[in-house]
Amino acid sequence: MIKVGIIGVGTVGTSVVNILKDNADVISARAGQDIVVKSGVVKNLNKDRGLDITITDNVDDILNDSEIDIVVELMGGVEEPFEVVKKALKSGKAVVTANKALLAYHRYELQEIAGTIAFEYEASVAGGIPIINALRDGLSANHIESIMGIMNGTSNYMMTKMAEDGVAYDDILKEAQDLGYAEADPTFDVGGYDAAHKLLILASIAYGIDAKPEDILIEGIQNVTQEDISFAKEFGYAIKLLGIAKKDGNEVELRVHACLIKQEEMIAKIDGVMNGISVVGDKVGETLYYGPGAGGDATASAVVANIIDIARSGKSTPMLGFDKPMEGKQLTLKPTENIESKYYLRINVSDKTGVLAKITKVFEDNSISVETMLQRPASTNSANLLISTHIAYERDIQNMIKEIASLNFVNSTPVMIRMV
Ligand code: HSE
Repeated sequence: MIKVGIIGVGTVGTSVVNILKDNADVISARAGQDIVVKSGVVKNLNKDRGLDITITDNVDDILNDSEIDIVVELMGGVEEPFEVVKKALKSGKAVVTANKALLAYHRYELQEIAGTIAFEYEASVAGGIPIINALRDGLSANHIESIMGIMNGTSNYMMTKMAEDGVAYDDILKEAQDLGYAEADPTFDVGGYDAAHKLLILASIAYGIDAKPEDILIEGIQNVTQEDISFAKEFGYAIKLLGIAKKDGNEVELRVHACLIKQEEMIAKIDGVMNGISVVGDKVGETLYYGPGAGGDATASAVVANIIDIARSGKSTPMLGFDKPMEGKQLTLKPTENIESKYYLRINVSDKTGVLAKITKVFEDNSISVETMLQRPASTNSANLLISTHIAYERDIQNMIKEIASLNFVNSTPVMIRMV
């Protein structure tokens, strides 16, 4: 029999206890033995969780319990769980975590400390979707060319509702929070940080890239307006917050930002709180993973799968799935300014003679080629210029936006959304 201790018995922890009980038949058959939760750590001992396990508010009750084989870390945060998980591994206990922030900062140290002790983290990326398993095991024969997807349900719900129902940003954020998917601080969702944590974990498995959130391009959906969503829809695009990892020679680009995607693309059809991730391998081609990226039972489904896996084998492959540079050399992070993309720009200008010529001159001066251009009246004296570019460098676009914003007939900083 395998005994489990859960540190942090909130929504997901409660679901873990319930799934192990409700589905004990299949779990026991698949694990080859029974799995029980012996105890759980909570902050508030007075709250009744209706669970049939020993509850304590002292982490050491689990860490020092020699009967506990697997510690499940569901406490959230970064440095506090890092200390707890290190102690668990040092005392020889296997660890399962759903904590993406912990891994975004400490995954390589944890791989080192874990060694051959099992350390699993399927629930940290895209909740119930077995994307870690797919990348680390199912696609392990491939060079990974790209990973691209919707990794944050809250912002996807917001983008979907803004497009479908024309609901204002603030109202829809409140709705998303009520659904129980949003992070405690919703800036993590709408600012792109939650998706970035997940992208960094996937990029480590695929490429061995050791980057921190501070090292990569992270933008959220805060500046996406109803106006841009409507224009996008009219021209056959959806706007989604994407996490993108792409290999280019010895470099890997990592970025999280809102994107215009053609409506016929599969990723564009992933709506509501769902997550969807496309992975392209050099041998397998494109594969797509779709499902609930959060929620108690969906996340706990991934946690319990890890517990079953540990019960089966007792040990883990190297935590990130490799133990030497994967491509004969260390791949490096592409500097943000060298990222190439197509761009959509909305520039609000005074509607006067010569404006268009002056704008296109700035494009030319910055070596940016226009693909399509359209002018739409915005008020009696102003117009929106809607422009899409051919592939351009991020540094050139950023310089050009600064230059355009400083022109006296430009009414506000141009809106820029990258295109896939
Ligand atoms: N806040 C996250 C989301 C939950 O909205 O997808 C899972 O990480």
